[in-house]
Amino acid sequence: MNEQDKSKKLDLPPMGAQDFSEIEDWSGYFNAVLGKGARDTLIAALDSFEQEGFNSGFAVDLAAGEGRDSLELLGRNWHVLATDNHPEAFSHLWARVPEVLKPNLTTTEVSFNDMKFPNCDMVNASFALPFCEPQHFEVLWNKIIASIRPGGRFAGQFFGSRDTWASLPNRSHHSREEVLKLLDGFSIEMIREEERDDPPELRKPKHWQIFHIVARKH
Ligand SMILES: C[S@@+](CC[C@H](N)C(=O)[O-])C[C@H]1O[C@@H](n2cnc3c(N)ncnc32)[C@H](O)[C@@H]1O
Repeated sequence: MNEQDKSKKLDLPPMGAQDFSEIEDWSGYFNAVLGKGARDTLIAALDSFEQEGFNSGFAVDLAAGEGRDSLELLGRNWHVLATDNHPEAFSHLWARVPEVLKPNLTTTEVSFNDMKFPNCDMVNASFALPFCEPQHFEVLWNKIIASIRPGGRFAGQFFGSRDTWASLPNRSHHSREEVLKLLDGFSIEMIREEERDDPPELRKPKHWQIFHIVARKH
């Protein structure tokens, strides 16, 4: 019996993207979010590049998932290295890439701790870094910083220390002060802090604390 059938049987609200994320059922997550548009942080970063006259570039889309952001990058003439450690991620992505843009995409199945970053104009890490195990976070972050060229950007999210999932043992969460420290060496162009409680009718309401970041490397 799949999760949705179990929900019906137990009279629970159906599993949503956040329920799949909580238990790291990424296959379920990809199906739940398939077809959704690019993240606001990526759009803002791309708009800033365009305002500077850069209408293309090379981005690493870290933990790209089913590929919503990679598709946006490709559609805006960027070259993309999309990485993820889940074997199903890239079948969702490749199936939606127009033939003419396929040469601009490389996909690599790799986990955070084995990542090798090429030099790039941007690292995009949408809702990705919180899922890095804490013991690998510092090395991963240092690799991200090193890979972005001066004037390039980081776009993505950090989850806050007041977020419900901060108590899960394999997650990386940060206070606002810690986020600011990580971004030393960058000009912060966006730091939007979202803190809220889910409505009670959700399957498993939680408290969210998310930092939405766009930052330009000095
Ligand atoms: C919440 S999803 C985000 C996907 C996409 N970036 C988005 O914005 O929707 C988290 C992603 O992290 C990937 N992931 C989880 N643990 C990972 C690890 N150790 N190494 C690489 N990717 C990982 C999952 O496969 C999943 O695609």
